[in-house]
Amino acid sequence: MRLAISVFAGILGVVEMVGIIVLFYLSIKKCFGKSEKRKLRLFLATFFTNPLICYLILFAILFVLGMLLLSVLGIWSAAQFQDIYTHDITFNIVTFFFLAALFLALQILIALKMAKWLHARYPSLVVFLYLMFSVFMVLSMRMSINADKSAHPVFELLLSLATDIILAFGIVLFYFLVVKPLAELTEWPFDTNWRIFVIPPAAFCFLYAGLAMGTAQFLDNSTIQLISFFSNIVMFLFIWAFCIIIKNINATGDALEARDEVKTLSVEVMEALAHTIDAKDEYTRGHSVRVAKYSRMLAERMGLSPKECEDVYYMGLLHDIGKIGVPNEIINSPNKLTDEEYAVIKTHPGVGYDILAEIKSRPDLSVGARWHHERFDGEGYPDRKTGEDTPLPARIISVADSYDAMTSNRSYRDYLPQDKVRDELKRCAGTQFDPRVVEAMLSLMDEDPEYKMHE
Ligand SMILES: [Fe+2]
Repeated sequence: MRLAISVFAGILGVVEMVGIIVLFYLSIKKCFGKSEKRKLRLFLATFFTNPLICYLILFAILFVLGMLLLSVLGIWSAAQFQDIYTHDITFNIVTFFFLAALFLALQILIALKMAKWLHARYPSLVVFLYLMFSVFMVLSMRMSINADKSAHPVFELLLSLATDIILAFGIVLFYFLVVKPLAELTEWPFDTNWRIFVIPPAAFCFLYAGLAMGTAQFLDNSTIQLISFFSNIVMFLFIWAFCIIIKNINATGDALEARDEVKTLSVEVMEALAHTIDAKDEYTRGHSVRVAKYSRMLAERMGLSPKECEDVYYMGLLHDIGKIGVPNEIINSPNKLTDEEYAVIKTHPGVGYDILAEIKSRPDLSVGARWHHERFDGEGYPDRKTGEDTPLPARIISVADSYDAMTSNRSYRDYLPQDKVRDELKRCAGTQFDPRVVEAMLSLMDEDPEYKMHE
């Protein structure tokens, strides 16, 4: 009968352990919400690479496994355990009081630390809550141990389990009836991650009960006290680390959000600039954005890194920014340009370069503006660069620019059919364009049989 209870309690311990893991998962998930999956990923990454957490998890696993092993091995090992711990009663009493005092001090210290980290307005409330959890846990464990001493062990066991459940609900209820109204009254930041405070301690009540049920048959009180002491340390270290991580992650998450906002703003400003340039010429509406998109597609096709592809996109957006300095009459001239007018047009790469070089944090942005009219054979402008002397982003933008020119309507013609565009690109590969970029463009066109890729 005793062995059966022991095995049953062991199994119960395992079930409770699984329950705790599920509860932990749910609490973490709820803490972050669906829209903050990145925070969750960040949390998991931080959590499992944290040496303290790894150590604690390992410790907890070994601890539970050891206890289960004891349950399974049976009563004979218990006798040996008792020999080790009960031969000196004085040692036990001194140890008990010493450990109890140390434990209490440690708990208050940790609770205070936590209150400080969380900027709690009432640190004493945090301390009180933690001491309360601790009392609950000890109470819960004691009741489980009683099951072993009783004449009706099964009844006591079930009673203990029921008490655990009631206690857990009691903690949650306490939170909603006392802590939350207090938090709302005082705008206490405690409210944001309440599950971290409620669920782990409630879960640990179950863990304690499970462990106690599994081991109470053959461990004396002082051994249980010792286990209780060390498990409490482990648990508080665990929650401590948990709180630091949550706090850091919230900070990192906020920083990431702020960075995203700045990035979105930069892109929007750049796109607005691109629209401004395009607005000068009624026939090039959307040209810069399309060139930017094509350039990025080419960069991706050529196997550039995501960062490089993004940079090419921005350079594409702003490649014609120098046209701001070219008078509208020249840009929109219905007649063939004179040599003087053409000379003015040819200043736009240099002007663009000068404008973009002003952006000190991103000096690379000016590359596309300056060299997108260079040719592979060195016959381009403004610097007559040849071949791969022209930076790759500029060679890419050059192809994207010409592609968009051919596939957009002009005052004097509609956009060209795809075959003609393809022939033209092939014809100019190696003279005007980098053959590698042309190859990438042709492969993009092959994937566009319905010719969707035009203005
Ligand atoms: Fe241009």
